[in-house]
Amino acid sequence: MRQLNLKDGLNISEFSLGCMNLPLDDKNEMEKIIQFALESGITHFDTADLYQFGKNEQELGKILNVFRSTYDFTIATKGGNEFDQKTQEKIGWNPTPKHIKSAIKDSMHRLGVDHIDLYQLHGGTIEDNKDETISAFDDLKQEGLITSYGISSIRLNVIDYYLRHSDMSTIMMQFNPLDNRPLEVSNSLKEDVAILARGPVMKGALSSSWRSVIEEKFPDGFLDYSCEDLKGSLERLSEVEDDLTALSYAFLRYNEAAIVNGVSSLKQLESNIESYNKMPDLSQEEYKAVLDAVKIIKYEEHRA
Ligand SMILES: NC(=O)c1ccc[n+]([C@@H]2O[C@H](COP(=O)([O-])OP(=O)(O)OC[C@H]3O[C@@H](n4cnc5c(N)ncnc54)[C@H](OP(=O)(O)O)[C@@H]3O)[C@@H](O)[C@H]2O)c1
Repeated sequence: MRQLNLKDGLNISEFSLGCMNLPLDDKNEMEKIIQFALESGITHFDTADLYQFGKNEQELGKILNVFRSTYDFTIATKGGNEFDQKTQEKIGWNPTPKHIKSAIKDSMHRLGVDHIDLYQLHGGTIEDNKDETISAFDDLKQEGLITSYGISSIRLNVIDYYLRHSDMSTIMMQFNPLDNRPLEVSNSLKEDVAILARGPVMKGALSSSWRSVIEEKFPDGFLDYSCEDLKGSLERLSEVEDDLTALSYAFLRYNEAAIVNGVSSLKQLESNIESYNKMPDLSQEEYKAVLDAVKIIKYEEHRA
Protein backbone atom coordinates (compact mmCIF):
# COMPACT_ATOMS: atom_id res chain seq x y z
CA MET A 1 0.00 0.00 0.00
CA ARG A 2 1.46 3.38 -1.01
CA GLN A 3 1.70 6.09 1.63
CA LEU A 4 0.99 9.76 1.03
CA ASN A 5 3.02 12.26 2.99
CA LEU A 6 0.84 15.27 3.66
CA LYS A 7 1.45 18.58 5.38
CA ASP A 8 2.21 18.72 9.13
CA GLY A 9 3.85 15.29 9.02
CA LEU A 10 0.54 13.53 8.42
CA ASN A 11 1.11 10.23 6.59
CA ILE A 12 -1.89 8.31 5.30
CA SER A 13 -2.34 5.23 3.15
CA GLU A 14 -3.29 6.01 -0.45
CA PHE A 15 -6.47 4.00 0.14
CA SER A 16 -8.42 5.08 3.25
CA LEU A 17 -11.47 3.37 4.64
CA GLY A 18 -14.54 5.62 4.44
CA CYS A 19 -16.56 4.57 7.48
CA MET A 20 -19.93 6.22 6.78
CA ASN A 21 -21.62 3.05 5.46
CA LEU A 22 -20.08 0.48 7.80
CA PRO A 23 -22.63 -2.01 9.17
CA LEU A 24 -22.83 -0.57 12.69
CA ASP A 25 -25.51 -3.02 13.74
CA ASP A 26 -23.44 -6.06 12.77
CA LYS A 27 -20.49 -5.83 15.13
CA ASN A 28 -18.91 -9.05 13.92
CA GLU A 29 -18.91 -7.96 10.27
CA MET A 30 -17.68 -4.50 11.22
CA GLU A 31 -14.75 -5.97 13.17
CA LYS A 32 -13.86 -8.19 10.22
CA ILE A 33 -13.89 -5.17 7.88
CA ILE A 34 -11.60 -3.13 10.13
CA GLN A 35 -9.25 -6.06 10.71
CA PHE A 36 -9.06 -6.81 6.98
CA ALA A 37 -8.45 -3.10 6.26
CA LEU A 38 -5.53 -3.00 8.69
CA GLU A 39 -4.11 -6.29 7.41
CA SER A 40 -4.29 -4.89 3.87
CA GLY A 41 -2.17 -1.90 4.78
CA ILE A 42 -4.95 0.68 5.18
CA THR A 43 -3.80 3.10 7.85
CA HIS A 44 -6.36 5.89 7.57
CA PHE A 45 -10.02 5.86 8.64
CA ASP A 46 -12.51 8.59 7.78
CA THR A 47 -15.57 9.29 9.88
CA ALA A 48 -17.64 12.31 11.00
CA ASP A 49 -19.51 13.30 14.12
CA LEU A 50 -22.74 13.52 12.10
CA TYR A 51 -22.61 9.92 10.79
CA GLN A 52 -25.42 8.09 12.61
CA PHE A 53 -25.42 11.05 15.02
CA GLY A 54 -22.26 10.06 16.85
CA LYS A 55 -22.74 6.29 16.74
CA ASN A 56 -20.28 5.86 13.86
CA GLU A 57 -17.46 7.47 15.83
CA GLN A 58 -18.42 5.49 18.93
CA GLU A 59 -18.47 2.04 17.28
CA LEU A 60 -15.43 2.75 15.10
CA GLY A 61 -13.46 3.99 18.11
CA LYS A 62 -14.28 0.86 20.13
CA ILE A 63 -13.00 -1.46 17.40
CA LEU A 64 -9.95 0.60 16.40
CA ASN A 65 -8.82 0.88 20.01
CA VAL A 66 -8.57 -2.93 20.20
CA PHE A 67 -6.03 -2.79 17.34
CA ARG A 68 -4.08 0.23 18.57
CA SER A 69 -1.25 -1.79 20.10
CA THR A 70 -0.77 -3.84 16.91
CA TYR A 71 -1.13 -1.30 14.11
CA ASP A 72 -0.22 2.34 13.47
CA PHE A 73 -3.12 4.25 11.96
CA THR A 74 -4.64 7.69 11.72
CA ILE A 75 -8.23 8.86 12.15
CA ALA A 76 -9.98 11.71 10.39
CA THR A 77 -13.27 13.07 11.59
CA LYS A 78 -15.40 16.09 10.77
CA GLY A 79 -17.37 18.74 12.61
CA GLY A 80 -19.47 21.82 12.00
CA ASN A 81 -22.96 20.33 12.22
CA GLU A 82 -25.01 20.62 15.38
CA PHE A 83 -27.15 17.59 16.12
CA ASP A 84 -28.99 15.93 18.95
CA GLN A 85 -27.58 12.47 19.61
CA LYS A 86 -30.62 11.41 21.64
CA THR A 87 -33.34 12.43 19.19
CA GLN A 88 -31.07 11.76 16.17
CA GLU A 89 -31.89 15.11 14.64
CA LYS A 90 -29.69 17.55 12.79
CA ILE A 91 -30.10 21.01 14.27
CA GLY A 92 -28.07 23.10 11.85
CA TRP A 93 -24.75 24.30 10.49
CA ASN A 94 -22.47 25.91 13.07
CA PRO A 95 -18.84 26.66 12.14
CA THR A 96 -18.22 29.04 15.07
CA PRO A 97 -15.06 28.51 17.16
CA LYS A 98 -17.22 27.82 20.21
CA HIS A 99 -19.00 24.96 18.48
CA ILE A 100 -15.91 23.56 16.71
CA LYS A 101 -13.93 23.50 19.96
CA SER A 102 -16.67 21.72 21.85
CA ALA A 103 -17.55 19.36 18.93
CA ILE A 104 -13.99 18.07 18.68
CA LYS A 105 -13.99 17.21 22.39
CA ASP A 106 -17.21 15.23 21.88
CA SER A 107 -15.67 13.45 18.87
CA MET A 108 -12.52 12.57 20.84
CA HIS A 109 -14.65 11.25 23.68
CA ARG A 110 -16.75 9.07 21.35
CA LEU A 111 -13.67 7.81 19.49
CA GLY A 112 -11.84 7.15 22.78
CA VAL A 113 -8.77 9.21 21.77
CA ASP A 114 -7.06 12.33 23.06
CA HIS A 115 -5.90 13.54 19.65
CA ILE A 116 -7.40 13.75 16.14
CA ASP A 117 -4.99 13.25 13.24
CA LEU A 118 -7.07 15.11 10.65
CA TYR A 119 -10.00 17.34 11.58
CA GLN A 120 -12.21 18.47 8.70
CA LEU A 121 -14.85 21.13 8.39
CA HIS A 122 -17.90 19.16 7.28
CA GLY A 123 -19.12 21.61 4.62
CA GLY A 124 -19.14 25.37 4.84
CA THR A 125 -20.66 28.29 2.99
CA ILE A 126 -19.19 31.51 1.64
CA GLU A 127 -21.35 33.41 4.13
CA ASP A 128 -19.63 31.79 7.15
CA ASN A 129 -17.19 33.86 9.16
CA LYS A 130 -14.37 31.81 7.65
CA ASP A 131 -11.47 33.65 9.34
CA GLU A 132 -12.99 32.82 12.70
CA THR A 133 -13.32 29.14 11.75
CA ILE A 134 -9.76 29.05 10.42
CA SER A 135 -8.43 30.55 13.65
CA ALA A 136 -10.28 27.84 15.62
CA PHE A 137 -8.56 25.14 13.53
CA ASP A 138 -5.19 26.88 13.98
CA ASP A 139 -5.78 26.99 17.76
CA LEU A 140 -6.58 23.26 17.82
CA LYS A 141 -3.33 22.58 15.99
CA GLN A 142 -1.34 24.82 18.35
CA GLU A 143 -2.91 23.17 21.39
CA GLY A 144 -1.79 19.79 20.01
CA LEU A 145 -5.33 18.44 19.79
CA ILE A 146 -5.05 17.85 16.03
CA THR A 147 -2.14 17.13 13.69
CA SER A 148 -3.67 18.80 10.67
CA TYR A 149 -6.94 20.13 9.28
CA GLY A 150 -8.92 20.23 6.06
CA ILE A 151 -12.32 20.91 4.59
CA SER A 152 -14.90 18.71 2.94
CA SER A 153 -16.47 20.91 0.30
CA ILE A 154 -17.54 21.03 -3.32
CA ARG A 155 -18.02 24.81 -3.31
CA LEU A 156 -15.28 26.41 -5.39
CA ASN A 157 -15.63 29.78 -3.69
CA VAL A 158 -15.22 28.22 -0.22
CA ILE A 159 -12.30 26.02 -1.36
CA ASP A 160 -10.59 29.04 -2.92
CA TYR A 161 -10.94 31.05 0.31
CA TYR A 162 -9.48 28.27 2.46
CA LEU A 163 -6.65 27.71 -0.04
CA ARG A 164 -5.70 31.38 0.15
CA HIS A 165 -6.27 32.05 3.85
CA SER A 166 -5.73 28.84 5.79
CA ASP A 167 -3.04 26.29 6.46
CA MET A 168 -5.27 23.34 5.55
CA SER A 169 -3.73 20.16 4.20
CA THR A 170 -6.70 18.41 2.57
CA ILE A 171 -9.91 18.97 0.60
CA MET A 172 -12.42 16.13 0.51
CA MET A 173 -14.51 16.03 -2.66
CA GLN A 174 -16.51 13.45 -4.59
CA PHE A 175 -14.10 12.55 -7.38
CA ASN A 176 -14.02 9.72 -9.92
CA PRO A 177 -13.99 9.43 -13.73
CA LEU A 178 -17.76 10.07 -13.95
CA ASP A 179 -17.88 12.93 -11.44
CA ASN A 180 -14.75 14.66 -12.68
CA ARG A 181 -15.76 18.16 -11.52
CA PRO A 182 -12.78 18.34 -9.09
CA LEU A 183 -10.36 18.28 -12.08
CA GLU A 184 -10.56 22.03 -12.15
CA VAL A 185 -9.37 22.12 -8.52
CA SER A 186 -6.74 19.40 -8.82
CA ASN A 187 -5.21 21.03 -11.89
CA SER A 188 -4.54 24.24 -9.99
CA LEU A 189 -3.86 22.95 -6.50
CA LYS A 190 -1.01 24.11 -4.29
CA GLU A 191 1.55 21.32 -3.91
CA ASP A 192 1.06 20.92 -0.18
CA VAL A 193 -2.72 20.41 -0.29
CA ALA A 194 -4.14 17.01 -1.22
CA ILE A 195 -7.55 15.98 -2.53
CA LEU A 196 -9.18 13.18 -0.57
CA ALA A 197 -11.47 11.57 -3.16
CA ARG A 198 -14.71 10.32 -1.70
CA GLY A 199 -17.12 8.34 -3.87
CA PRO A 200 -14.34 6.58 -5.82
CA VAL A 201 -16.63 3.68 -6.78
CA MET A 202 -19.64 5.97 -7.23
CA LYS A 203 -21.81 3.84 -4.93
CA GLY A 204 -20.88 0.72 -6.93
CA ALA A 205 -21.40 2.19 -10.43
CA LEU A 206 -17.64 1.84 -10.89
CA SER A 207 -17.52 -1.85 -10.01
CA SER A 208 -18.22 -5.19 -11.67
CA SER A 209 -21.87 -4.87 -10.57
CA TRP A 210 -22.29 -1.60 -12.48
CA ARG A 211 -25.24 -2.75 -14.61
CA SER A 212 -27.46 -3.56 -11.61
CA VAL A 213 -26.18 -0.55 -9.62
CA ILE A 214 -27.13 1.82 -12.46
CA GLU A 215 -30.65 0.36 -12.62
CA GLU A 216 -31.13 0.47 -8.84
CA LYS A 217 -29.33 3.64 -7.78
CA PHE A 218 -29.24 5.84 -10.87
CA PRO A 219 -32.50 5.16 -12.77
CA ASP A 220 -32.77 8.90 -13.53
CA GLY A 221 -29.09 9.33 -14.33
CA PHE A 222 -26.65 11.52 -12.46
CA LEU A 223 -25.39 15.08 -13.02
CA ASP A 224 -25.28 15.60 -16.83
CA TYR A 225 -25.79 11.91 -17.53
CA SER A 226 -29.06 10.15 -18.32
CA CYS A 227 -29.18 6.49 -17.31
CA GLU A 228 -28.40 5.60 -20.95
CA ASP A 229 -25.45 8.02 -21.01
CA LEU A 230 -24.06 6.33 -17.90
CA LYS A 231 -24.30 2.91 -19.53
CA GLY A 232 -22.53 4.22 -22.63
CA SER A 233 -19.71 5.80 -20.63
CA LEU A 234 -19.26 2.74 -18.43
CA GLU A 235 -19.08 0.49 -21.50
CA ARG A 236 -16.42 2.75 -23.02
CA LEU A 237 -14.50 2.88 -19.73
CA SER A 238 -14.57 -0.97 -19.60
CA GLU A 239 -12.79 -0.99 -22.95
CA VAL A 240 -9.91 0.97 -21.38
CA GLU A 241 -9.75 -1.35 -18.34
CA ASP A 242 -12.07 -4.21 -17.61
CA ASP A 243 -11.92 -3.64 -13.82
CA LEU A 244 -13.76 -0.33 -13.42
CA THR A 245 -12.82 -0.01 -9.76
CA ALA A 246 -9.11 -0.38 -10.60
CA LEU A 247 -9.58 2.15 -13.41
CA SER A 248 -11.18 4.68 -11.09
CA TYR A 249 -8.35 4.27 -8.56
CA ALA A 250 -5.80 4.67 -11.37
CA PHE A 251 -7.58 7.83 -12.55
CA LEU A 252 -7.34 9.21 -9.00
CA ARG A 253 -3.67 8.25 -8.66
CA TYR A 254 -2.97 10.00 -11.98
CA ASN A 255 -4.49 13.11 -10.39
CA GLU A 256 -2.51 12.57 -7.18
CA ALA A 257 -5.69 12.24 -5.12
CA ALA A 258 -6.08 9.93 -2.13
CA ILE A 259 -8.83 7.29 -2.34
CA VAL A 260 -11.47 7.34 0.41
CA ASN A 261 -13.61 4.29 -0.25
CA GLY A 262 -16.72 3.34 1.68
CA VAL A 263 -18.05 -0.21 2.03
CA SER A 264 -20.95 -1.87 3.78
CA SER A 265 -19.57 -5.42 3.73
CA LEU A 266 -16.31 -7.32 3.98
CA LYS A 267 -16.93 -8.76 0.52
CA GLN A 268 -16.92 -5.25 -0.99
CA LEU A 269 -13.67 -4.31 0.76
CA GLU A 270 -12.00 -7.56 -0.34
CA SER A 271 -13.02 -6.89 -3.91
CA ASN A 272 -11.89 -3.24 -3.74
CA ILE A 273 -8.50 -4.15 -2.29
CA GLU A 274 -8.06 -6.74 -5.04
CA SER A 275 -8.76 -3.97 -7.57
CA TYR A 276 -6.41 -1.59 -5.75
CA ASN A 277 -3.61 -4.14 -5.88
CA LYS A 278 -3.97 -4.57 -9.61
CA MET A 279 -4.58 -0.96 -10.61
CA PRO A 280 -2.56 0.00 -13.67
CA ASP A 281 -0.40 3.12 -13.79
CA LEU A 282 -2.15 4.98 -16.59
CA SER A 283 -0.13 6.25 -19.52
CA GLN A 284 -1.01 9.70 -20.88
CA GLU A 285 -2.84 7.99 -23.75
CA GLU A 286 -4.86 5.76 -21.43
CA TYR A 287 -5.74 8.75 -19.26
CA LYS A 288 -6.96 10.59 -22.35
CA ALA A 289 -9.03 7.52 -23.29
CA VAL A 290 -10.69 7.72 -19.84
CA LEU A 291 -11.56 11.39 -20.38
CA ASP A 292 -12.85 10.61 -23.89
CA ALA A 293 -15.20 7.98 -22.45
CA VAL A 294 -16.96 10.38 -20.05
CA LYS A 295 -18.50 13.84 -19.95
CA ILE A 296 -16.28 16.60 -18.62
CA ILE A 297 -18.42 18.31 -16.01
CA LYS A 298 -17.98 21.66 -14.29
CA TYR A 299 -19.37 22.90 -10.98
CA GLU A 300 -22.24 25.23 -11.83
CA GLU A 301 -22.91 26.84 -8.45
CA HIS A 302 -20.90 28.50 -5.67
CA ARG A 303 -18.19 29.64 -8.06
CA ALA A 304 -17.86 33.31 -7.15
N1 LIG B 1 -19.54 15.46 2.74
C1 LIG B 1 -18.68 14.57 3.17
O1 LIG B 1 -17.75 14.90 3.88
C2 LIG B 1 -18.82 13.14 2.77
C3 LIG B 1 -19.94 12.73 2.04
C4 LIG B 1 -20.02 11.39 1.68
C5 LIG B 1 -18.99 10.52 2.04
N2 LIG B 1 -17.93 10.92 2.77
C6 LIG B 1 -16.83 9.99 3.17
O2 LIG B 1 -16.32 9.35 2.02
C7 LIG B 1 -16.48 7.93 2.15
C8 LIG B 1 -16.76 7.32 0.78
O3 LIG B 1 -17.89 7.93 0.20
P1 LIG B 1 -19.15 7.13 -0.34
O4 LIG B 1 -19.45 6.08 0.67
O5 LIG B 1 -20.21 8.05 -0.72
O6 LIG B 1 -18.61 6.58 -1.70
P2 LIG B 1 -18.14 5.21 -2.27
O7 LIG B 1 -16.98 4.75 -1.48
O8 LIG B 1 -17.96 5.39 -3.73
O9 LIG B 1 -19.41 4.29 -2.07
C9 LIG B 1 -19.57 3.41 -1.01
C10 LIG B 1 -20.73 2.49 -1.35
O10 LIG B 1 -20.51 1.91 -2.65
C11 LIG B 1 -20.93 0.57 -2.65
N3 LIG B 1 -19.75 -0.27 -2.92
C12 LIG B 1 -18.50 -0.15 -2.38
N4 LIG B 1 -17.70 -1.09 -2.89
C13 LIG B 1 -18.44 -1.82 -3.77
C14 LIG B 1 -18.16 -2.92 -4.62
N5 LIG B 1 -16.96 -3.47 -4.68
N6 LIG B 1 -19.16 -3.39 -5.39
C15 LIG B 1 -20.40 -2.85 -5.36
N7 LIG B 1 -20.73 -1.79 -4.57
C16 LIG B 1 -19.74 -1.29 -3.80
C17 LIG B 1 -21.55 0.29 -1.30
O11 LIG B 1 -22.93 0.61 -1.40
P3 LIG B 1 -24.04 -0.27 -0.63
O12 LIG B 1 -23.75 -0.04 0.82
O13 LIG B 1 -25.34 0.35 -1.07
O14 LIG B 1 -23.85 -1.69 -1.06
C18 LIG B 1 -20.83 1.29 -0.42
O15 LIG B 1 -21.56 1.61 0.76
C19 LIG B 1 -17.60 7.76 3.18
O16 LIG B 1 -17.56 6.52 3.81
C20 LIG B 1 -17.28 8.88 4.12
O17 LIG B 1 -16.24 8.51 5.01
C21 LIG B 1 -17.82 12.24 3.12
